Amino acid sequence: MKIGIIGGTGVYDSSFIDKSENIELDTPYGKVQLIKGYRGNKEIFFLERHTKGHKLIPSKVNYKGNIYALKSLNVDYVISTAAVGAINNCSVGDFVILNDFMDFTKNRSYTFFDEENSEVVHVDMTEPYCKTLRTNLIDALQWSNAPIIKNGTYVCTEGPRFESPAEISMYKKLGGDVVGMTNVPEVILAREAALCYATVALVTNYAAGISKKGLTHKEVSENMSKMMDTLKKAFIYLIDHMTLDKICNCNEALKELNTLK
Ligand code: HPA
Repeated sequence: MKIGIIGGTGVYDSSFIDKSENIELDTPYGKVQLIKGYRGNKEIFFLERHTKGHKLIPSKVNYKGNIYALKSLNVDYVISTAAVGAINNCSVGDFVILNDFMDFTKNRSYTFFDEENSEVVHVDMTEPYCKTLRTNLIDALQWSNAPIIKNGTYVCTEGPRFESPAEISMYKKLGGDVVGMTNVPEVILAREAALCYATVALVTNYAAGISKKGLTHKEVSENMSKMMDTLKKAFIYLIDHMTLDKICNCNEALKELNTLK
């Protein structure tokens, strides 16, 4: 079995992987660097979303290259992490297993099917995140005694600035639970690639206006690092217990190409 992990802000520790080595893949979207290693007989590919040293702002992340690289490595599952602000139904320190999202980004490339010769594909987003992986993530986080919220709607903003209180108030009225800057287009591209993909959102702060004080990246990083031991325990449990028994149909995402002729 092969498992891909996309580490978001604050998630850079791959010490749970044995025999790790740095690898670089050439993709049509540029070079992608990963750490390759093992846990038992499972092959793990760990990728830092923002590249090593967190160098890329959310608008500039190579989402297509990252997903393309994991797809070309034939991974069976992709687990991603995301730092988020709390809007509704959650508190700082919670682990939220996303089940839906809203897109408020403005300036990204959202599809692999945008070449001159490619078909016009409308991928289904009824269930954006993999049911198999979500179930396993919930089990693993519960085993790790993590404060866990089993469902949450992610609001994706363009960034890199944080939101205004009026924006957060609007997202709350619309049904958003957490806010971050990177899950779109990652979740969409993973679905287009027919990958089993799920995201655990780590609540690092209360969103603007909910928190009366101003937001800083320092607060996000500090709260994130408090959650790392639990996350690492959950990753280890998840990897060690993950099987190929699937209750999802992620691999059929493009079976009947949703094309307009
Ligand atoms: N807003 C957007 N992105 C974030 C936040 C937030 O409050 N916290 C962590 N990432």
